[in-house]
Amino acid sequence: MNSMRLKDKVAVVTGGARGIGAAICERFAAEGAKVVVADMDPLAGDETVGRIKAADGKARFVACDVTRREQVSALMDRALEAYGSLDIVVANAGIIHNTPFLELDDATFDRVIAVNLKGVFYTGQEAARRMVERGIKGIVINTASVNAVIVPIGLAAYNASKGGVNQLTKTMAVELARHGIRVNAIGPGSVATDLFRVGDPHRPRGDGPGAQPHPARPAGGTLGDRRCRDVPGDRRQRLLHRPDDLPGRRQAGAQPGDAEGVGAGEPG
Ligand SMILES: NC(=O)c1ccc[n+]([C@@H]2O[C@H](COP(=O)([O-])OP(=O)(O)OC[C@H]3O[C@@H](n4cnc5c(N)ncnc54)[C@H](O)[C@@H]3O)[C@@H](O)[C@H]2O)c1
Repeated sequence: MNSMRLKDKVAVVTGGARGIGAAICERFAAEGAKVVVADMDPLAGDETVGRIKAADGKARFVACDVTRREQVSALMDRALEAYGSLDIVVANAGIIHNTPFLELDDATFDRVIAVNLKGVFYTGQEAARRMVERGIKGIVINTASVNAVIVPIGLAAYNASKGGVNQLTKTMAVELARHGIRVNAIGPGSVATDLFRVGDPHRPRGDGPGAQPHPARPAGGTLGDRRCRDVPGDRRQRLLHRPDDLPGRRQAGAQPGDAEGVGAGEPG
């Protein structure tokens, strides 16, 4: 049973086409929110919107690369135009590169920071400026990670980006509190998504970011069940959850406070 706690709220979720972001979008829509699914993957984005609409929810897809401020700015304008408000913004888009510290090159480090940290900055700032202008006492949720506080090896850029997200979140929370805007971070543990086997699906490959199909998309179309299947065994054993296991996807028995940190908990 859904309690419609988000009835008529407008939510924007970056990285909303797949994985954790898609689960957040579907749950928010099930709780009555009008959801803008923002992502660089239009095919998966349309599928997420399709699932939401099939369940009588409201959603639309907006293409957005969170590393590009002008695209993030346009995203917030599109949400306002389409749905008339901007109540909840989830800065969730993220990538991972697994490279030993001694081999980590500038381009890889810069790219992880650009998506995971600067993308969160752009998303939060473009959203918060519009909330302040309109007197909206909104909510910003940044997806950090357990890697913000623990140090799995080979993930220097990722770990640093997520530590940065935690500190950015705390700073945003303190500075935006006087405007009535709440800012929190969530720190998931391991969830078996494409993050583990694709890592950085939109890495520029010469003909432009996002121009290629998502590497996780099976030939011929539908996504199917891609979860643990292709994750190497040693990593799979460490994967504890799937997006379907998230509280936000539990249809029966969901408890208040299960909604992935919406207005809950301490920042960071
Ligand atoms: N899966 C985990 O175990 C785990 C654990 C902790 C934190 N996280 C974080 O959760 C978030 C979501 O991860 P996921 O596991 O669902 O990954 P995922 O790869 O399944 O989904 C990530 C989504 O982000 C999109 N994306 C990537 N770069 C983008 C960009 N520049 N602009 C817009 N969209 C972009 C992708 O197209 C994809 O739809 C990330 O921030 C990740 O770091 C994941």
